[in-house]
Amino acid sequence: MIKVIVAEKIADEGLEILKKEFDVDFRPGIKQEELLEIVENYDALVVRSVIKVNEELVARAKKLKVVGRAGVGVDNVTVPACTKRGILVINTPESNTISAAEHTIGLLLSAIRNIPRATAQLKSGGWDRNPFKGIELYGKTVGIVGLGRIGSMVATRLASFNMKVLAYDPYISDERFRRFGAEKVDDLNELVRRVDVITVHTPRNEETMGIIGEEQFKIAKRGLVAVNCARGGIINEKALLQAIKDGIVSYAGVDVFEKEPSPGNPFFELEKIAVTPHCGADTDEAQVRVGLTIANQLIKALNGEVVPNAVNLPSLREDELGTLSPYLCLAEKMGKFYFQVEKAPAERVEINYYGRVANTDTEMITISFLKGLLQPILGDEVNYVNAPLLAENRGIKLVVSKDEAPNGVGSGKEYASLIEAKIFDSKGMLEISGTISPKREPRLVSLRGYEMDINPTGVMLFVLNVDRPGVIGPFTTILGQEGINIAMMQVSRHQKGDVALMTLNVDVEGETVGEDVVKKLRAVDGITTVKVVKF
Ligand code: NAD
Ligand code: MLT
Repeated sequence: MIKVIVAEKIADEGLEILKKEFDVDFRPGIKQEELLEIVENYDALVVRSVIKVNEELVARAKKLKVVGRAGVGVDNVTVPACTKRGILVINTPESNTISAAEHTIGLLLSAIRNIPRATAQLKSGGWDRNPFKGIELYGKTVGIVGLGRIGSMVATRLASFNMKVLAYDPYISDERFRRFGAEKVDDLNELVRRVDVITVHTPRNEETMGIIGEEQFKIAKRGLVAVNCARGGIINEKALLQAIKDGIVSYAGVDVFEKEPSPGNPFFELEKIAVTPHCGADTDEAQVRVGLTIANQLIKALNGEVVPNAVNLPSLREDELGTLSPYLCLAEKMGKFYFQVEKAPAERVEINYYGRVANTDTEMITISFLKGLLQPILGDEVNYVNAPLLAENRGIKLVVSKDEAPNGVGSGKEYASLIEAKIFDSKGMLEISGTISPKREPRLVSLRGYEMDINPTGVMLFVLNVDRPGVIGPFTTILGQEGINIAMMQVSRHQKGDVALMTLNVDVEGETVGEDVVKKLRAVDGITTVKVVKF
């Protein structure tokens, strides 16, 4: 049975779903060292932000197929190491966005109105409001660094406080700034100079680590309010501490720290800072959403399905996935053909998308083709995650083109969508083309220029024969004698008397058509080639 370890707390709702499907070890709070010792036993690992899925852990996790990050940030997961090993990394990017945005606002208000200190004073028997005089947000300017899911929600919420919203995010369209009512500022330092409040909402990476630091605090307005509910270090801790001490920053709200947990952090000594222990996503609603999402995604992923929130795959929405699914299936089957009929290494793969399919995000379809291509020679070692890397490592050059005009195959047939693949080896090229039927089933419509309309399924025979009477009869008689039923059959030729292509879907007892039977079929007069292909 598939074994899953849930190494940090997730909602019971998610856990229950997982337990119905898999053998689940729920080990919240497990230490990194202990996990390292036992991780080799598991097919899937679920973490939040404490466990580090680093190179060492990945190297030890011999069976691991999926890492489920129950949350957004994957800075605790070494994604390239996972990709190299074909381990799928999934997260739940939408599930805790609202909570993190609301926590940002909470931290901001708590800080500027001294709520944590006032609470503490009252609870310890005091009643003195003088130390807690704060400031208003009304009429002030906020600068948002990173206008993604959370940043944009913070923008709209702060606009309702009558704040002017500026944003810095070099990676999004102007339309997104307009949609969220934020003035686009191209230069981070200009934003810093103009704002009364700054809040960061970028991922943590080399570029964003310390993006607000000493240099920015030097040019900021005196009395700046700073909030970090994204990741520790995006606002440099040392610089922030100094800026608070120097009176440049009047208030701060911090949920995340450079080192977590962060005992003895000097921030905790300061009055004008509201701090929380990385609990921005900790609400009933978000945790149920996160738990259910990660559990459902994990089930799909472990069943070999493509999931929408895969970090190391092209990102697809659930609805896009629905549209693309038949094409993924078709492309994988088309890919499977080559190495089952050719023994020469593929040097170059050309995939040409025509018609409607060319108008979709085809990246995943291409990956599916590569997965199918390598599967006959690499077996389970290849999956959606590592197929492009494995193809590249084998020296296969990939060329993809798109043409939204419908394309015909052979003599003038037109397909609303067509995928054409050409696989080149050192000596020649194999062309295979396919489409989706009105029932949304995969169809192969051309092979080496032979027109056809076949359903690539189960075990199939691809046979080249001389186009003359008296060849097909003896051939099919042998199949009958061997107890092999012909489920479907088609013949195709370029011209009369030439070499024709015969394709047969067959029902076999075992897994495939045995080599002894293939030998007999090849010996039939007029048969040139017999290839068995499993789809
Ligand atoms: P997101 O990917 O939707 O948005 C991030 C935005 O940052 C994107 O628009 C991106 O273009 C922008 N960005 C990237 N590099 C940038 C740069 N150098 N300068 C300016 N902008 C840049 O992510 P999200 O879901 O909004 O999450 C934002 C952050 O919040 C992440 O760090 C995430 O881990 C964190 N988070 C924290 C909590 C919590 O509990 N405190 C909860 C959820 C998410
Ligand atoms: C996240 O990235 O989703 C947050 O840090 C919250 C969490 O890890 O639970």
